[in-house]
Amino acid sequence: MALLTGNKKIKTAVFISGTGSNLKNLIQFSKTKKSPILIDLIISNNFKSKGLRFAKIFKIKKKILTFKKKTDEKKLIRVLKEEKINLICLAGFMKILSRNFIKSFKGKILNIHPSLLPNYKGLNTHTRVLINKEKYTGCTVHFVSPKLDNGKIIIQKKIKIKKNDTPKKLAKRVLIEEHKLYPKAILKIFNL
Ligand code: GRF
Repeated sequence: MALLTGNKKIKTAVFISGTGSNLKNLIQFSKTKKSPILIDLIISNNFKSKGLRFAKIFKIKKKILTFKKKTDEKKLIRVLKEEKINLICLAGFMKILSRNFIKSFKGKILNIHPSLLPNYKGLNTHTRVLINKEKYTGCTVHFVSPKLDNGKIIIQKKIKIKKNDTPKKLAKRVLIEEHKLYPKAILKIFNL
């Protein structure tokens, strides 16, 4: 991606809706020397999102928009442009972004999904994987396109399903891999 200019780090916004463990992990990664990104802004569609606490802990700006009003997305685009955000990382963000929004940041929005895409798009991936008696599952980081969980795949990690796995156990193991995979994907898109 031709976004890296000189020695400046890429201004990045992370979008969350819930716990924010991927957010925390990305913040920690962004503080390492090898990281090409700097997390400048946290966006949430949910006032109750636990992950919002990381804004205070790490002194990062935050903005909450419920997306209930049509103007909310326009407002968000304005904020992101004002802050000169050049990369957006969706991390457990439960709102589907409009085609217009995605076009405004073409090729600059990443998402992490807890399955081996193109299999198991959408919600409740771990339950569905277990019902179908799959041998493997995993996680995927991909570029966001207007079609849900359908953009170009950047990187995937495959994990073996165990006999006594439950959706909860699986989610926990996949999440550990997600935390390794997101930084790897970012290094990869910047050819680092
Ligand atoms: C992750 O499993 C992510 O792949 C999915 O939602 C979960 C978010 O977890 N889209 P967290 O909020 O980052 O802890």
